Amino acid sequence: MENYSNIRFLEPTMASTGQLDTNFVTMTRFVLTEQRKIPYATGELTQLLNSILTCVKAISSAVRKAGMAHLFGIAGETNIQGEEVKKLDVLSNDLFINMLRSSYTTCLLISEENETVIEVETDKQGKYIVCFDPLDGSSNIDCLVSIGSIFAIYKKVTEGAPTLQDGLQKGKNIVAAGYALYGSATMVVLSTGNGVNGFMLDPAIGEFVLTDPDMRIKPRGKIYSINEGYASLWDKTVTEYVRRKKYPESGKPYGARYIGSMVADVHRTIKYGGIFMYPATKDSPNGKLRLLYECNPMAYIIEKAGGLASTGKIPILEVVPEKIHQRVPIFMGSKEDVQEILDLYKELEKQD
Ligand code: AHM
Ligand code: MG
Repeated sequence: MENYSNIRFLEPTMASTGQLDTNFVTMTRFVLTEQRKIPYATGELTQLLNSILTCVKAISSAVRKAGMAHLFGIAGETNIQGEEVKKLDVLSNDLFINMLRSSYTTCLLISEENETVIEVETDKQGKYIVCFDPLDGSSNIDCLVSIGSIFAIYKKVTEGAPTLQDGLQKGKNIVAAGYALYGSATMVVLSTGNGVNGFMLDPAIGEFVLTDPDMRIKPRGKIYSINEGYASLWDKTVTEYVRRKKYPESGKPYGARYIGSMVADVHRTIKYGGIFMYPATKDSPNGKLRLLYECNPMAYIIEKAGGLASTGKIPILEVVPEKIHQRVPIFMGSKEDVQEILDLYKELEKQD
């Protein structure tokens, strides 16, 4: 069995000495090792994850406007051939669909960008279902603020041709999930069921290198994260919870941070602790975020890192999906912070 204890995780492949670390752990190496622990593993999941990494590299390059002349030409909106440039979210979606389809590992795809499920051609089908948001944080794309890609992988549960039922599984059936964050660096955070690991893209070699092994979320943080512009539309529990964070009876108030890209807000929550909320509002009784490809994968990662993710009533991973684009309210992050708002929901409901 591979033992990573001698490996200097926190150093990039090029150490400060300029020397190449010759034994770094790439994501593929890591997943291969994980899969070896499972008897009869076929390597299909590794193959699938590799195809997602290819998408992430290509999206990362496009997000960073690398190869700008190729993307935009000199004029801006059209490329050098005079063709209109694909918007980043369309390009990301096309990449995900093409790479997953041609990986021979999937049979059904559900994307935020497609109204209906995508069935993979029979001769290319494998046993996995992938739900994904190819580029989340649409309002942040044009102003160069961090954005991300999110994915959840399931196994087919029905016999024969894939059906909608295969796509509408509870989050607790997830086999592997993760996200890519296109921030000051590009990072993929992944769980295949045992803990959570972070891999930074080293552009010099085009590989994702294990830099954040066994990520754990603090039991309590000092940051709350919510779009406070909608305060007048919240229910009384969220209103009271946020009030208590700002005007605590004892101790210091919490800090507020809200990027408006869930991947970035949740990544910070995992690294620093605290709570991220996208609750129901008067206008949107189910909140904004989508269960299948936004909430479930992030909830899975948060729980595997030791945190909690809930709708306010039940764990996110227990929600039975009814529609592929269904929304749910979400509270996730440090265990004690999330538990506090769940307790407040119960307490205030009793008073009604
Ligand atoms: P999108 O799928 O259109 O990008 O919307 C999802 C994003 C999330 O990343 C983020 O948490 C949320 O929308 C922000 O919404 P709001 O602007 O209402 O606060
Ligand atoms: Mg989205």
